[in-house]
Amino acid sequence: MEGLRIMKDGSFLEKVTSESTSISLLGRGDGVEIILQTVFKGKLFYLYPSDNNHTMEFFYILNGKMKGEIEGEKVTLGPNDYFSGQGIKEPVHFVAEDEVTYLWVITEPTFHYISKDIKALRDIIVNVEKKDRYTFMHSERVANYSVKVAKELKLPKSQLEELYLAAELHDIGKYKIPSEILNKPSKLTKEEFNVIKKHPEDGADMVKNTNYENIAKVIEQHHERLDGSGYPSGIKEHDILLPSKIIAICDTFDAMTEDRTYRKAFSAQYAMDEIKRLAGTHFDPELVNVFEKILREEGKIE
Ligand SMILES: [Fe+2]
Ligand SMILES: [Fe+2]
Repeated sequence: MEGLRIMKDGSFLEKVTSESTSISLLGRGDGVEIILQTVFKGKLFYLYPSDNNHTMEFFYILNGKMKGEIEGEKVTLGPNDYFSGQGIKEPVHFVAEDEVTYLWVITEPTFHYISKDIKALRDIIVNVEKKDRYTFMHSERVANYSVKVAKELKLPKSQLEELYLAAELHDIGKYKIPSEILNKPSKLTKEEFNVIKKHPEDGADMVKNTNYENIAKVIEQHHERLDGSGYPSGIKEHDILLPSKIIAICDTFDAMTEDRTYRKAFSAQYAMDEIKRLAGTHFDPELVNVFEKILREEGKIE
């Protein structure tokens, strides 16, 4: 049935195991994650203060017992006990008396910090940036700029996390482009440019096979332009996702302000003027304004 997802006992989206715990991601959506965690006997369970006061964490113990001390009082928790944390100021810890399994619901994406899928994708990005010798740290800078724009727009934290991941991985499809093309000092032929143009879709495909398929479309659209002159699909205006529009601006700015095989870096001012000139045709004018404001506040432009 559309929208319904039934999973059988023991299944998960992704599972990560260490010597003290095993963590399975059971579901995720709209910024919320549902996780099944087992803490092995004698190991510690920690609940840390979040840097976001709105984040809620909820735990429901299924099996096992854990013991802790909260403000001087001993607490033992067992099957069907549950607790939650929101805006806690100090870390809370429990010791697993035996193997403890609980359901953990958290209202901000967290699993990506430990996800092997994401780690594998990040490793590929490092290789892409090694292959294209002028893009060292490009992804990280684009991700940082993108989040600044999103914060200025007051996007919810869940969207911020998604945007950051998508921005970090936006060029991942470049791993398929031969380095002779990536590093070609002269003008690309039409065929060569067609190879370059494949990277947004290739990147989207790579992410689709992970639990982060929600960022696939964002990656696919990072070279689309408002007037339909972009690639791969030539979609326009409102058909382009907001995160893709944000990444497009930050990506262009970073690409222009770095040296390339075929030219020296442009100044931040020149790059910004160029982006402004293309506001409305290539880039979303409102986002261009936000980006300009950020650069000005950082003293990068007048
Ligand atoms: Fe790209
Ligand atoms: Fe890029």
